[in-house]
Amino acid sequence: MLEHTPSHSQEAYIAYPAKRLGGSVNVPGDKSVSHRALLLGAVAEGATKISGFLRSEDCIGTLLALRAMGVEIDDSGSYVTVNGVGPSGLKKPKMPLDLGNSGTTMRLMLGLLVAQPFDVTLIGDSSLLTRPMERVAEPLRTMGAKIVTTEGRAPIKINGGSQLCGIDYSMSVASAQLKSAILMAGLWASGRTIVRSPGISRDHTERMLETMNIGLRREGPSIVSIKGPATLSGTDIMVPRDFSSAAFFIVAGLLGAIDGLMIPAVGINPTRTGLLTILRRMGGRIELRNERSSGAEPIADIFVEKSELRAVNVDAELVKLSIDELPVLFIAASAALGRTSVRGAEELRYKECDRLAVMATGLEALGVAVEEQPDGMIVEGGTIQGGHVNSNGDHRVAMAFATASIVARGPIEIVDTAPIATSFPDFHRVATRSGFELERISYPYNV
Ligand code: S3P
Repeated sequence: MLEHTPSHSQEAYIAYPAKRLGGSVNVPGDKSVSHRALLLGAVAEGATKISGFLRSEDCIGTLLALRAMGVEIDDSGSYVTVNGVGPSGLKKPKMPLDLGNSGTTMRLMLGLLVAQPFDVTLIGDSSLLTRPMERVAEPLRTMGAKIVTTEGRAPIKINGGSQLCGIDYSMSVASAQLKSAILMAGLWASGRTIVRSPGISRDHTERMLETMNIGLRREGPSIVSIKGPATLSGTDIMVPRDFSSAAFFIVAGLLGAIDGLMIPAVGINPTRTGLLTILRRMGGRIELRNERSSGAEPIADIFVEKSELRAVNVDAELVKLSIDELPVLFIAASAALGRTSVRGAEELRYKECDRLAVMATGLEALGVAVEEQPDGMIVEGGTIQGGHVNSNGDHRVAMAFATASIVARGPIEIVDTAPIATSFPDFHRVATRSGFELERISYPYNV
């Protein structure tokens, strides 16, 4: 059985310089796809059988929230089976839904729940309560939803019983979460809902809706529409291994795998793989082997070898395709020759923490010269020293600094590593097996 055990313990890593990195690394299932499989499966007609599901805190939070609304989900075997309740089968939860650290769950859940007949309140942890939610609430209100945010953030109250109408909406940010929330609400709306994006964002929702028998209209990569009301059909969903989790090992391999490092069966959806383009421009030796499909998503085995990395300029277009990988890209840039510039990345300030500020502070503590910009960072590559950094409760920041240890000149103490469990619960074991030298420390008191 899955249990939701949010990480409140104080945990830290001492990450020592790696001695030998290599072999084959199995990273866990994709977080974005796992959330969507549960959410869409829950409101489909019939069963959805999910293989490769990510059993992490964020996804288990989504699972428990759906169970709290009466959805039967069997997680006792190697598959997770969701017995869909159809468009009007969800039940009013007895308590506010606590979505932990997960922005994806909160935003997608808003779209899913706005047309239900019951009232519901969405809450989350201290990080989630600071994240912008008005960007989702505003278009959903235009569709007819009744949503009350707390100064644009959670707690959010949805007042049930709304009749929704399709809208033609132009997003001001290229956000997959926003796009997905509007498309999910579009399932319940009368007429066509059109979403226009200022750039490319991940398209897992579109692919999954199509697999579940919804005829979307896609015009190029930035316009998508759905005609409601529409009913989803339960199906089998294969979750690929998460490219964003593989990213730490891709960079680690480029920094230190003399005989190469293999990361098999990873999702390579082109809306997610900007990091590969950037690292190849930096001189990274990366091969995609055995490219194939896993259900609706493309996957490949990724092989990387230690490479001499050079600085690169990353613009807003590439940022959109690599947004979750930028913390670890800053580590690659710190070890590269020359001055790397990343611009057009203001959205990083609204993730699990302000990733520009927190990465800049941590890199400076490791002796790297950085210039934080309002929308990015300039990194003077060279040497990474040992030192003391804090993840600020952000899983990807913690794993990025662990990756820095591969080439650091001394140990890196990374405080607050427990949130790694939101996306990669097994990171310590998997990383250690591939050659990372990570000592895990639990603190009984605040550090
Ligand atoms: C996600 C979309 C991205 C990403 C997040 C997961 C998703 O956010 O940063 O980690 O699953 O849709 P945006 O919606 O802001 O692009």
